[in-house]
Amino acid sequence: MVVYAEKKALHQELSQNSKRLFSESANTTVVTCTVNGEEGKESGNGTVTSSCLDIEEYGANGEITGEKKAYVATVLERYTRRWHERSKHHLGYPANLDFNYDDLDQFQQFLINNCGDPFIEGNYGVNSRDFEVAVLDWFANLWEIKKDEYWGYITNGGTEGNFHGLLVGREMFPDGILYTSSESHYSVFKAAHMYRMECIKIDTLISGEINCGDLKANLLRNKNKPAIINITIGTTIKGGVDDVDLVIQTLEECGFPRNRFYIHCDGALFGVMLPFLDQAPRVTFKKPIDSISISGHKFIGCPMPCGVQIVRTNHINLLSRNVEYISSKDVTIMGSRNGHNPIFLWYALYCKGYNGFRKEVQKCMQNARYLRDRLVEVGVSVMLNEFSNTVVFERPKDEEFIRHWQLPCEGNITHVVVMPNVTIDKLNSFVDEIVKKRLIWFKVDGKLPTCVAFEIGKENCVCPQHK
Ligand SMILES: Cc1ncc(COP(=O)(O)O)c(C=O)c1O
Repeated sequence: MVVYAEKKALHQELSQNSKRLFSESANTTVVTCTVNGEEGKESGNGTVTSSCLDIEEYGANGEITGEKKAYVATVLERYTRRWHERSKHHLGYPANLDFNYDDLDQFQQFLINNCGDPFIEGNYGVNSRDFEVAVLDWFANLWEIKKDEYWGYITNGGTEGNFHGLLVGREMFPDGILYTSSESHYSVFKAAHMYRMECIKIDTLISGEINCGDLKANLLRNKNKPAIINITIGTTIKGGVDDVDLVIQTLEECGFPRNRFYIHCDGALFGVMLPFLDQAPRVTFKKPIDSISISGHKFIGCPMPCGVQIVRTNHINLLSRNVEYISSKDVTIMGSRNGHNPIFLWYALYCKGYNGFRKEVQKCMQNARYLRDRLVEVGVSVMLNEFSNTVVFERPKDEEFIRHWQLPCEGNITHVVVMPNVTIDKLNSFVDEIVKKRLIWFKVDGKLPTCVAFEIGKENCVCPQHK
């Protein structure tokens, strides 16, 4: 293990070198190194990466000197360049980088804080609750719940939405068992751990969706306790969609009446997308579900993480506590809440509208199919679920390529998430590069394509055995 003290010492040493690095090379701002031969323990890719920035004291009175300003400007410029470059090769994480919020620069001068309940006018005057409620109404309409039947708020992301949804479930059923698939996002297991909830991991199908046969077996074994179910609408790695209707049917078959279960839908990415695909399973409160959360920076796109959480109003009183200090109610996970987020979301929703999103979703689906077909063409094992923009394929053979395109890997597989900013040109350069690299991996280095039949199915695997 790389212990904390060693890492700290390393960081200090790197910091000493930082100015030298800045002046030596315009492009070098990150030092990558291996500590004590303990590769891969911390980052999973064999390295510990440390950015060498420090905060130095200048002048006795903290005045901003010319030298200080010049240094800051260099640092900022360097990061701008670095992030432009990294954004160009951003294929593996579900973030829409195609946004322009320049109109909102004027709000940078305000500390906008939406602490408390968005539906209660609190004491803190610089808040964006008007924007927040407009965004919530937009989602309530999308997910088919009436204004007076929902409560919600703008979160810091999908993780917070899961934390909130599962907390409401636990408050409703303190002795309930959480059932969630093994391919759920890690935040679900984290919430279960933090809330000390009993959690049963349910098997998945090849697509990544929950296996309702295994769910049924587990529900039947635990009929004496209420069920809190986390449904994933778009699993992180494979883009699988849990079948809500089948889950509800399974609950019924196992003898769980409506007042003995709570369903939270983690729709981080697909919760915004599926409603715009005509044939896709419907994401709707007309079904007996209790809460839905999404990440705002994923499909919608936003310079900072954010999200939306909507829950049935009648459940929310369980969490709500009056707080005199803010003249509001404490119903959210966080105290102070980022008041800029709702404005960004409002702006994006207002500018694009339902029709704009429909077009973008369709374009992503088409481009994802294009990438899948091209990978098939060049002999890569690949899988693309229906209604998904997550193209899953065999893990590339070198870490540099993985880092270059920022591909998240899990075991033998990785994926590209085809977001609105991902163009056909970019996909072509990605495929061209993978083709060149495969010549090296397989012809020069003599490696063999990995078998990924277990992960994505025999029919999608083109390893020597399944070709
Ligand atoms: C299915 C799923 N749920 C939740 C999250 C967490 O979202 P966030 O990163 O916005 O906290 C993710 C993130 O990738 C996800 O894929």
